[in-house]
Amino acid sequence: MKVLVTGGAGFIGSNFVRYLLKSRRDLELFNFDKLTYAGNPESLADVAQDPRYHFVRGDIADQQAVDQIFERGFNAIVHFAAETHVDRSIEDASPFLKTNILGTHGLLEAARRFPAMRFIHISTDEVYGSVPAGVSFTEEATLNPRSPYAASKASAEHLVTAYANTYGVPVVILRCTNNFGPFQFPEKLIPLMIANAREDKAVPIYGDGLQERDWLFVEDHCRAITLALDKAKPGSVYNVSSGVPQPNLKIVRTILQHLGKPESLMQYVQDRPGHDRRYALDSSKIRRELGWAPMVRFEEGLHRTTEWYQANAMWLDHTRSGEYRKYYDRHYTRRSETFRI
Ligand code: NAD
Ligand code: TYD
Repeated sequence: MKVLVTGGAGFIGSNFVRYLLKSRRDLELFNFDKLTYAGNPESLADVAQDPRYHFVRGDIADQQAVDQIFERGFNAIVHFAAETHVDRSIEDASPFLKTNILGTHGLLEAARRFPAMRFIHISTDEVYGSVPAGVSFTEEATLNPRSPYAASKASAEHLVTAYANTYGVPVVILRCTNNFGPFQFPEKLIPLMIANAREDKAVPIYGDGLQERDWLFVEDHCRAITLALDKAKPGSVYNVSSGVPQPNLKIVRTILQHLGKPESLMQYVQDRPGHDRRYALDSSKIRRELGWAPMVRFEEGLHRTTEWYQANAMWLDHTRSGEYRKYYDRHYTRRSETFRI
């Protein structure tokens, strides 16, 4: 099997590349990644020498580069590449529109010339918008994206569906909830809290901290993607979730406990504009049709994650140098100053 992965140097992509190389012998895998601030070849250092793995640096929004890589002929593409951080999309939506919408369009254009190529599109629960208390959305719920990031991912999904309908591209869409685990860029909640708390720095809580997310350990997501690759019928859409939404405050408190740090590190800051209060998905369809179920309990996943960041301080230091510092200072200084006023 010859698989093209886009965005394989990012958090979920790098975990997936490693997972797929480990779980099957008969595989050739190409990782096509622009290496934005979020892409890090160090995340794949352990597989870089594997003869079945090939890295190609390129931008999915560059049609010529995309056409060129497709000429190699693939059985499937797993499309992760995206701008992914909601706060950055609020600062400037343009890179999100370019990569997430136009980039996905370019891949679909190339894919429609290869009718047998399966297209696994990695979407997100954020396309549904905020979910009322006590409810979990199924795949039938209306898409109601509420941040520029979510809107760009919903647009990408509409294009994916349109290309399936119009040109018969064999697509499968996976809408997963928040992932956590090793190699996640420390702008997202869990690695940011671990990174700051390790150094006894304040951990910033947006608003009242009672927003809920339905966290899933990244390995469980990778297994769902592999099942979709092997077994999903073209045209299918699947939610992927643990089904256990939890408030941010609980997550942060658990991290502080794991690290033996005091709760006095928690600093309430200005809330995110338009902050989605709650994400919660019903994933019974993928459990029923593909036999998927999460295998890593949240507590165990969090333990593995905190241990990983402790043991990989060098990876963390590298990702937090340069661009990250500028983003952090710009974003959090403004947030806590505004809050004090
Ligand atoms: P990430 O930000 O960690 O990594 C994104 C990767 O895409 C990076 O390696 C980056 O270099 C690459 N990239 C960005 N723009 C590119 C371009 N124009 N051309 C080629 N490569 C480009 O992202 P992640 O958290 O691993 O998310 C991967 C996918 O999963 C995204 O599509 C995201 O929307 C989706 N998703 C993420 C989560 C989550 O909790 N992280 C949950 C559900 C869905
Ligand atoms: P995040 O990891 O950015 O994922 P998303 O917003 O895409 O779900 O944020 C997860 C939750 O944590 C979200 O409710 C926002 C909140 N949050 C904080 O309270 N403080 C922070 O510094 C960050 C990055 C997020």
